[in-house]
Amino acid sequence: MANEPVRGGIAAVTPRAIAQAVDLLRAGDLVGLPTETVYGLGGDALNPEAARRIFAAKDRPADHPLIVHLPDAEQLPRWASSIPKEAIALARAFWPGPLTMILKRAPGVPDEVTGGQDTVGLRVPSHPVALALLKAFDSGIAAPSANRFGRISPTTAGHVQQELGERVAMILDGGACDVGIESTIIDLSRSTPEILRPGAITADQIAAVIGRQPRLRGDAEPAAPAEEAAPRVSGALAAHYAPRTPLQLVEPAVLLGALAQSLAAGLRIVVLARTLARPEQGSVHWQQAPLDAAAYAHDLYATLRDLDAAGADLLLVEAPPPAAEWRAIRDRLGRAAVGSGEQDET
Ligand code: TXA
Ligand code: MG
Repeated sequence: MANEPVRGGIAAVTPRAIAQAVDLLRAGDLVGLPTETVYGLGGDALNPEAARRIFAAKDRPADHPLIVHLPDAEQLPRWASSIPKEAIALARAFWPGPLTMILKRAPGVPDEVTGGQDTVGLRVPSHPVALALLKAFDSGIAAPSANRFGRISPTTAGHVQQELGERVAMILDGGACDVGIESTIIDLSRSTPEILRPGAITADQIAAVIGRQPRLRGDAEPAAPAEEAAPRVSGALAAHYAPRTPLQLVEPAVLLGALAQSLAAGLRIVVLARTLARPEQGSVHWQQAPLDAAAYAHDLYATLRDLDAAGADLLLVEAPPPAAEWRAIRDRLGRAAVGSGEQDET
């Protein structure tokens, strides 16, 4: 048919493109959509077949739950069976925005979306294109980051196309994502609020709203009773967000020494520096990252993709400081280091 959009094509955002995306979602197909954090691979959250397609498109194990994106907090009762006061306060403070809340799921939320757990991850994104699509769809859109499982999350429409090709019906182009790393995930389904994944919204910001400090995943904790078993979070696997080039996170004080050693061994090196300046000696692909945490996060995944494409033997990344505002970035870089350099399975 004439003017039929090409499968996997990138669409400029127009009312017609939004209407097409809604039709595709209603038909159980998948749409790439921009959010303020990273691009998502969206499907109808009430359609188990769409959820299965999402897992297949990402090569993601089916027991990793998906985040359901909502047009506004008023739709919470359709998705969560119990909405604690703290959830309402956090929704008021941070939605629309980069915060995902884990709540007890309402009946009717498909097992395929929750990974069979009794909880569901919910978020109202702030990107205007995501909101326009959600409002037109008027229901939940399940959307993991639109990358192959274990790989770097996409922050532009072009990245989504590189990752997924025709596995996605269309990609809405919302430009480069503002935040650049995935949302903060807070679990409010159990007795103590717990941050399962750090993000742009920090533990202190959350504490200021709910009046108590959330636990951080990995903190020392007494053994949980069986019914409070920790939920599965794929972003919590050690190897995640990984480039194909081996990546080492190196403290600034020892980076230049590590660089000299690697160069002496004849390796082709890429450096992602922050405070350090390029040394005069040695042939090295040197990339300077922003000093500021928000700007660093904004650029991080696109920079890692570029540096990965340089085909170097080793990527040395200057470790950012341990301060709270860098926690989410250090988390992603740490996981990228663990998962880096692995061969494709196929
Ligand atoms: O910023 C974001 O959150 C992006 C954009 C697209 O919204 N989405 C995203 O989705 O990062 P994904 O699937 O790549 O990561 C979602 C994480 C996974 O690690 C998943 O295991 C966890 O959220 N998650 C989802 N539902 C959960 C639940 N009920 N309990 C525990 N973890 C959950
Ligand atoms: Mg992801």
